[in-house]
Amino acid sequence: MYEIIKRRRSVRVFLPNAISREDLNKILDAGRLAPSANNLQQWEFVVVDDKDLRLALSDLCQWGRFIKTAPVTIAVFGDRQNSSTPLDCAAATENMIIMASALNIASCWVAGYRKPHSESIRKLLSVPRNYELVSLIVLGYSDADVKMPDKRSLESVTHFNKF
Ligand SMILES: Cc1cc2nc3c(=O)[nH]c(=O)nc-3n(C[C@H](O)[C@H](O)[C@H](O)COP(=O)(O)O)c2cc1C
Repeated sequence: MYEIIKRRRSVRVFLPNAISREDLNKILDAGRLAPSANNLQQWEFVVVDDKDLRLALSDLCQWGRFIKTAPVTIAVFGDRQNSSTPLDCAAATENMIIMASALNIASCWVAGYRKPHSESIRKLLSVPRNYELVSLIVLGYSDADVKMPDKRSLESVTHFNKF
């Protein structure tokens, strides 16, 4: 698991190769099994693999233009009334990204929570009004050699007992 977490990178250039349904189901299942406040599990995963919808998504999303080059994007929505929605959906998103990494499938988390494109994406995907977008998970096989960006050291982020 440590190796899988260390080798995961945000990838923004993808090969056209499709992701198998078996692998896609494992990724979605990892999201389903994530922790959630009070175990409410109020998340919905919309799998976008239709070419026209992927193009429309990337047109709407100014920080995710590369969505059009990836075979699949999962849009993660949560119940608008639940104050834990961003946290629960972030946990599900990270589980899916790590599962993808374990399957050698590259990913990029694209911002969705309360962004200018959030409502247009909800409407595009026919998601009911009581849900809100939290994240977009762009998935595919990497066509780039992405190096680890600068990360803060373990010592600098860790505080034992007091800050
Ligand atoms: C909440 C969140 C929102 C993000 N939004 C975007 C985005 O809109 N577009 C993008 O290209 N990357 C996005 N990223 C990916 C980050 O840029 C990336 O995780 C960061 O640069 C560190 O690189 P790494 O993932 O390879 O460790 C987002 C990541 C997170 C956690």
